[in-house]
Amino acid sequence: MKNLRPVGVIGTGKYVPERILNNAELEKMVDTNDEWIVSRTGIRERHIAAPEQATSDLAYEAAIKALDSAGLKAEELDLIVVATITPDTTFPSTACILQERLGAKKAAAFDLGAACSGFVYSLAAATGFIQNGMYNNALVIGADTLSRITDYTDRNTCVLFGDGAGAVVIGEVPEGRGFQSFDLGAEGTGGELLKLPAGGSRLPSSPETLAAKQHFIYMSGREVFKFAVRVMGTATEEVLRKAEMTKEDIDLFIPHQANIRIIQSAMQRLDLSEDRVMINVQKYANTSAASIPLALVEAVEEGRVKEGDRVVMVGFGGGLTWGGTALIW
Ligand code: ACO
Repeated sequence: MKNLRPVGVIGTGKYVPERILNNAELEKMVDTNDEWIVSRTGIRERHIAAPEQATSDLAYEAAIKALDSAGLKAEELDLIVVATITPDTTFPSTACILQERLGAKKAAAFDLGAACSGFVYSLAAATGFIQNGMYNNALVIGADTLSRITDYTDRNTCVLFGDGAGAVVIGEVPEGRGFQSFDLGAEGTGGELLKLPAGGSRLPSSPETLAAKQHFIYMSGREVFKFAVRVMGTATEEVLRKAEMTKEDIDLFIPHQANIRIIQSAMQRLDLSEDRVMINVQKYANTSAASIPLALVEAVEEGRVKEGDRVVMVGFGGGLTWGGTALIW
């Protein structure tokens, strides 16, 4: 991305719903236990949206904080991209609902669906718009309400997910800073391993799809695990290569927060000690598109990201997809 207009993060905000669902409560709901969940996933609790909260509500809360921290008014926004697989409605898009609520009158708005990789995909798309001069700024949000598509009678999946939103405002930054590289990828051959079977044009909602529980996440956990371990390593290496960085250059690694064991395998492959890795999966579980921005914003809040730091973010998810980026803060 040499000789292009430098684009980076100029504001951050996050939101998680108040309600916390911990492992002890899950023990009462399905045949599971805290020891299994913690040892296999690292997760201790997750936040769950209130019945009246939809994805745009979570996104809105994160968005106003990000705009505030960027010192930007909603009316000044050029573009809103919401990465989500749990939009309020198929259409209008969650980004359009948000545009109206924020009063971002001149902003173009669209949703982007790349599951847990969605935030990094959205960053890449929005950065391109700014680099080519079409826009000057963008609000990029990862927001998901996975609790709405989770079967709380299925112990294989219900312990893994939570709800939340993380937002950034991106815009021009000083030379030598901002996004240095992106690596996006897809392996459609693995699409069947992680999916929401019904509710689309292939299998519209019907009494049969409801009875067959086809409106809940289906996941082949072991296969997705293997894919995740592989691409976390390869995508990170690719992002570093394109940014002309080495693994030693990484000041903070922000992986998708799905499972502590996947994060640990990446740490091993990249020789990263814990002080160079952001981990909050224990508090929020897997929040899909919100996972990476929630971790990024929390790292900023904790003072773990300083000016000039080299930050690498890498995610993977349904599609199957992956996305990584290296930036200089
Ligand atoms: N409590 C107790 N036992 C359980 C639970 C539970 N909550 N869930 C599964 N088990 C049992 C299984 O039934 C199985 O029993 P069996 O051997 O008698 O059949 C046993 O535990 C072991 O199951 P495994 O699948 O081998 O467990 P594994 O160590 O692979 O961990 C897990 C499962 C946590 C799902 C792991 O495979 C994983 O994290 N996969 C990746 C998931 C992921 O990262 N998804 C990201 C994308 S999500 C998105 O895009 C929306």
